[in-house]
Amino acid sequence: MKKIDIIQHILGERCNNIPQLHPVTAFAPSNIALCKYWGKRDRELNLPMTSSLSISLGDHGTHTTLSISHDANDSIVLNGEVIDLSTAFARRVIDFLNLFRIDNKIFFHMDTHSTIPIAAGLASSASGFASLTLALNELFQWHLTKRDMSILARFGSGSASRSLWSGFVEWQRGERDDGMDSVGRPLDAVWKDLGIGLLIVSDKQKSVSSREAMARTIDTSVFYNLWPQKVAHDLEHIKQAIAEYDFDLLGKTAESNALAMHATMLTAWPPISYYLPDTIQMMQTIWQLRADGLPIYFTQDAGSNLKLLFLRSDLSAIKSVFTPLKIIFPFD
Ligand code: PMV
Repeated sequence: MKKIDIIQHILGERCNNIPQLHPVTAFAPSNIALCKYWGKRDRELNLPMTSSLSISLGDHGTHTTLSISHDANDSIVLNGEVIDLSTAFARRVIDFLNLFRIDNKIFFHMDTHSTIPIAAGLASSASGFASLTLALNELFQWHLTKRDMSILARFGSGSASRSLWSGFVEWQRGERDDGMDSVGRPLDAVWKDLGIGLLIVSDKQKSVSSREAMARTIDTSVFYNLWPQKVAHDLEHIKQAIAEYDFDLLGKTAESNALAMHATMLTAWPPISYYLPDTIQMMQTIWQLRADGLPIYFTQDAGSNLKLLFLRSDLSAIKSVFTPLKIIFPFD
């Protein structure tokens, strides 16, 4: 099945909508998975092997302004800088935009501003593709539901399917081959005291994309067979932790889930490691603080940075250890 067939199915007659002439702007939050999406069962449609669950980062994410270009090609501005169209970043955006051109005759100008470092494992592609999907919906006046937009955003980046909502979001794996049931679903829960700290170890671009790392892991890691079982267990515990505001259960499940994901990568061939020496050192600091009685946990995506999980009451203790630290209370 091809993406374009799914898009035609979702848009129907609206495939031919004429875009608005004025620029439109949309925002989508970044999200951090507490139970990770790691591995695709369908690489064309970005269908995941398992469900996943994330927390959106409030007003931290991506603002995207989109308009129709008068030139005969697309133009992309990222954080104020014009992007060369031959870069991997531009290629990914253009491939996504290719899905939405009417008769291949229109070109876009995209001006995007991310409030978090790009491609440092801080989920910038999730908020980027979700905000671009929202902007396309506005530009073409499709009036789609978030559920449908979550399917379209998934074609840009899997985790983008969770960035259409704030708060906790589950991306349900779904069962269908066409992925029409593989969508984000917000959880009805508010956890005012839950804090996230972004611990930037390095803001350099990662050397192996998450797409490539997932594929290599599935193809070569003996541990990958255990991953769906691990996710089933962790998802259940994370949902229980959220329902009962059980911070220790949330933290330990999220941390263990991230470590298990990285273990599948270490056992891939050629091996993949997103760990830098400072990443390991920070983990050891966190484990020591926990042993000393401070409830703090971490999670890590496809990058060297760590995301801390803590409660508001421990904010000053945490700030005194980790500087600089970007603090976010997702429900403020
Ligand atoms: O959405 P992608 O293709 O960038 O993959 C995201 C993968 C992780 O960030 C490692 C996990 C997740 O669920 O966000």
